[in-house]
Amino acid sequence: ALNVSEFLREHIRTVADWPSAGVQFRDITPLLQNPQVFRVLIDAFVHHYMDPTLRPDVVAGLDARGFIIGAVVAYELNVGFVPIRKKGKLPFTTVQETYELEYGSATVELHTDAVTRGQRVLLIDDLIATGGTMIAGVKLLERLGAVVTECAVIVDLPELGGSARLKALGKPLLTLVDFE
Ligand code: PRP
Ligand code: HPA
Repeated sequence: ALNVSEFLREHIRTVADWPSAGVQFRDITPLLQNPQVFRVLIDAFVHHYMDPTLRPDVVAGLDARGFIIGAVVAYELNVGFVPIRKKGKLPFTTVQETYELEYGSATVELHTDAVTRGQRVLLIDDLIATGGTMIAGVKLLERLGAVVTECAVIVDLPELGGSARLKALGKPLLTLVDFE
């Protein structure tokens, strides 16, 4: 039988020693390049979140690869899309969240009118590693009074601890492929 997770795994490329020595970079670009594979990927999310109990009011996507997936999933669910961007890209008033990276820190931003109080948000990215980016996104949305009902990624790197951190916060996380 064809298992979606195993099918998608075969279309993720692993690049050794990028961006630095010792890193096995999981590259999702082959998933997007092949139209049949891209459809299987998007449909996996859409079928899951079409369920009336899980269907969000809006999808939020994380800069930059979360935009590619998030916008298409939002379109297919017939809900709006809002971008959470790296600092300095959004023109209107924003809320900001800074988080720690292995070396230094990063800041992400969200327009203050991107979501409304009580809105149910699905937060999407391509991959979760330490979870810093996803958790910063949750905080931004919740500071504006939205409810992050679900988080979703294509790839989980469980050894880096992000999926466990999200679970500890009580946030459901859908992952399609794990790389131990
Ligand atoms: C990558 C990835 C996630 C984040 C995961 O993005 O797309 O957004 O890192 O790491 P974390 O769980 O440790 O926070 P990157 O910062 O490389 O940005 P890009 O999408 O703009 O390439
Ligand atoms: N692939 C893509 N993005 C990432 C990775 C990876 O292996 N690790 C941290 N961000």
